[in-house]
Amino acid sequence: CFAVWWSLKLVTLRRTPVLRVLELQAQMNRAVYEERPPGSLVPTSVAEASRAMAGDTTLSENYAFAGMHHIFDQHVDSAVPRLQFANDDKHLLACCSLDGTLSIMTLSPSPPTVKVTLKGHAGPVTDFAWSLSNDIIVSTSQDGTLRIWNTEDGRCIREVVDPEASELLCCTFQPMNNNLTVVGNSKHLLQVVNISTGKKVKGGSSKLTGRVLSLSFDAPGRILWAGDDRGSIFSFLFDMATGKLTKAKRLVVSEGSSISSISARSWISREARDPSLLINACINKLLLYRVVDNEGTLQLKRSFPIQHSSQPLHSIFCPLMSFRQGACVVTGSEDACVYFFDVERNTKAIVNKLQGHSGPVLDVSFNCDESLLASSDATGMVIIWRREQK
Ligand SMILES: *[C@@H]1O[C@H](CO)[C@@H](O)[C@H](O)[C@H]1NC(C)=O
Ligand SMILES: *[C@@H]1O[C@H](CO)[C@@H](O)[C@H](O)[C@H]1NC(C)=O
Repeated sequence: CFAVWWSLKLVTLRRTPVLRVLELQAQMNRAVYEERPPGSLVPTSVAEASRAMAGDTTLSENYAFAGMHHIFDQHVDSAVPRLQFANDDKHLLACCSLDGTLSIMTLSPSPPTVKVTLKGHAGPVTDFAWSLSNDIIVSTSQDGTLRIWNTEDGRCIREVVDPEASELLCCTFQPMNNNLTVVGNSKHLLQVVNISTGKKVKGGSSKLTGRVLSLSFDAPGRILWAGDDRGSIFSFLFDMATGKLTKAKRLVVSEGSSISSISARSWISREARDPSLLINACINKLLLYRVVDNEGTLQLKRSFPIQHSSQPLHSIFCPLMSFRQGACVVTGSEDACVYFFDVERNTKAIVNKLQGHSGPVLDVSFNCDESLLASSDATGMVIIWRREQK
């Protein structure tokens, strides 16, 4: 307890008063959740052995994010709907804003700075994605364009205008071929675009039942998931050779409720090896589905209470670490908190809750070694949270 107090004191000395209050709040909050009993899971012998090597860490300790590392406020007063750490990078992250720009930020060397601002969109930026090698970012905007950016100098390499002149709402890279990007628009259309030509791929289009709000590929890039504002999730089989999409399954989660986020994961822990999908669906719950076949049939596995009725909230699976017991998901919430849930704990699934935002938390992202978590909100604030060191 003394050690914790000291580390807190050292941190707060360098902070502004407002930040100090938020930090204390976060710290107090953490104390509440730490008192909960550890998980009831019995780890496998492999997990046990590797955990012994790493030092015994309970799940709650693994997710003890509390201290604020930094706050970025360059987009303040415009919502930041998406943010994402770069691939395999501890210190580089980007976010997009309804103010029409994106920023690339770096946390090292200290102090953290905005490295480049990507300017060019003529409307709110709705989504973006890093390429695997982090050299390119693609972004979508309500201005009806997809833009491709050089992340080193912030130059816009290409602009692809939506042929239907509709708002573009989401985008993602095909994980096995970063020349291909999938884009969803407000006229219900999903489209595969070849970013080295700027042309749409033949056979790579499909209609959903509503505005296309969320996309996610499974890790091998074989199944594409898409969610719309009428409450439907569709699965598509992706043909790697041609970029063609074949519609496979449809699930109505809740008629008329927007599917604001989809995250696919091949397996979530040593104990749960099923392919899974994490969904935010504006029904005051975070949903975890099991993918039961190769076509993308879904079966509800768990749900977790959060506040979610209208905002475009997102959630993620925690990165996999070999010694971890259990498995965790993190989500934004309309009550301005970030929630961590252990998906394998039957009671008291909540393992941490971070307070510090002053509006609905829209997106969350881990850096590659999980030492930092970033979260963004509807007021334009981005908070970088630091994991507690034992
Ligand atoms: C894109 O395609 C070109 C030519 O087909 C290839 O050389 C390049 O590696 C591809 N880029 C990515 C990111 O897959
Ligand atoms: C994308 O365009 C490049 C350049 O023309 C081409 O080499 C590549 O085959 C295209 N990829 C697909 C999947 O159409």
